[in-house]
Amino acid sequence: MSYERTIGSPCNSTAGGGRAQLDSESGTPRDRLGRALRELRVSVTDRCNFRCTYCMPLEHYSWIPKREILSFEEITRLSRLFVRLGVDALRLTGGEPLLRKGLPELIAMLSAIEGLDEISLTTNATRLVELAEPLRRAGLRRINISLDTLDPARFEALTRRRDLDRVIAGIDRAVEVGLTPVKLNTVVQRGVNDDELVGLVRFAVERGLELRFIEFMDVGTANGWRLDQVVSRAEILQAIAGAIELEPLGRLNADDPAEAWRVRGSACRIGIIPSVTAPFCGRCSRARLTANGSLVTCLFAASGHDLKGRLRDGASDDELLDRLRQIWRARDDRYSEIRFSETGALARREGKLEMITLGG
Ligand code: GTP
Ligand code: 5AD
Ligand code: SF4
Ligand code: SF4
Repeated sequence: MSYERTIGSPCNSTAGGGRAQLDSESGTPRDRLGRALRELRVSVTDRCNFRCTYCMPLEHYSWIPKREILSFEEITRLSRLFVRLGVDALRLTGGEPLLRKGLPELIAMLSAIEGLDEISLTTNATRLVELAEPLRRAGLRRINISLDTLDPARFEALTRRRDLDRVIAGIDRAVEVGLTPVKLNTVVQRGVNDDELVGLVRFAVERGLELRFIEFMDVGTANGWRLDQVVSRAEILQAIAGAIELEPLGRLNADDPAEAWRVRGSACRIGIIPSVTAPFCGRCSRARLTANGSLVTCLFAASGHDLKGRLRDGASDDELLDRLRQIWRARDDRYSEIRFSETGALARREGKLEMITLGG
């Protein structure tokens, strides 16, 4: 099978643009299914100040020791190499990325990489009131924020923290400083928050935000995912249809996980990320770098490829580039498609890495 990248709509901010001087030897590597490498998701910490039930259900975690966490210099060096291989968009994740001390400094270092079109970040927003402005000044372009409910009691049950007001203040601050489009991420779970979808869309429209509903995924193994907890793309659309009129826009950029709709009568869009019922592995151009320097080629992988060891053993840029190319070229991940086609969407792999390690 071969997947070719198509060019997305020019209105999408992550598409195309002034790509870096590509690696002269071979350009952008293609994986075994013909997919190019376009985006790098960098987890800057595995710590989080929330305990979302679908992500961190356990009482105890063994955190990555501090000395194992990549330094800003190491992250910047690896990112620069990824850009040489064709990556033009970088997303910082966690755990909760805003817990990493000095994050604006890292963003400033990454912003200096020639050929990188965009740096974005996915956060729970608890520290955004203080950090939005310094992050923006350092070069962060836009931000995605998790928000699963507007009900304070439900928020506490879901995150096991009482920070809803702080999160909403963080969202407003992000808009104020121009980290736009601000996108909200809502993981929809049956019997948990599926009665709130219309309210969440209205909240987003009032504030001029984009809201994406995410089908609950079987990332890791700790969250006890069951198929009957998944509210499908079709059900999400049906739940909204009675109250809000939507115009389909499709995928704004060929590589986007989200399909988009315009909310009629407003400038706002909503999206759905249908990884379970309409997998999009064919357009998957993302690599993930964990906080301890492991390169993971699928959100559902059981393990990654250690880069930190090579980095700290003194590997040259060329040696590291060779390794990155080799890993990407050997990649044939399509977990969600296989899950969907073989089992009608049942979880099928044991020992998968947890979301807290991968940052989504
Ligand atoms: P945009 O560039 O703004 O579209 O960001 P994004 O949606 O790619 O990133 P974000 O961190 O906001 O992730 C939203 C949801 O999409 C999370 O639940 C991620 O786990 C999920 N997601 C992102 N990339 C992939 C992917 O390659 N595969 C799957 N299955 N899910 C993904
Ligand atoms: N399924 C779908 N989305 C998830 N996220 C975390 N765990 C899951 C899961 N099991 C989302 C978070 C965050 C993004 C990085 O991933 O809500 O917005
Ligand atoms: Fe929740 Fe994100 Fe923290 Fe996981 S990393 S517990 S999804 S806030
Ligand atoms: Fe990519 Fe894996 Fe997600 Fe498929 S399941 S889109 S291969 S990260």
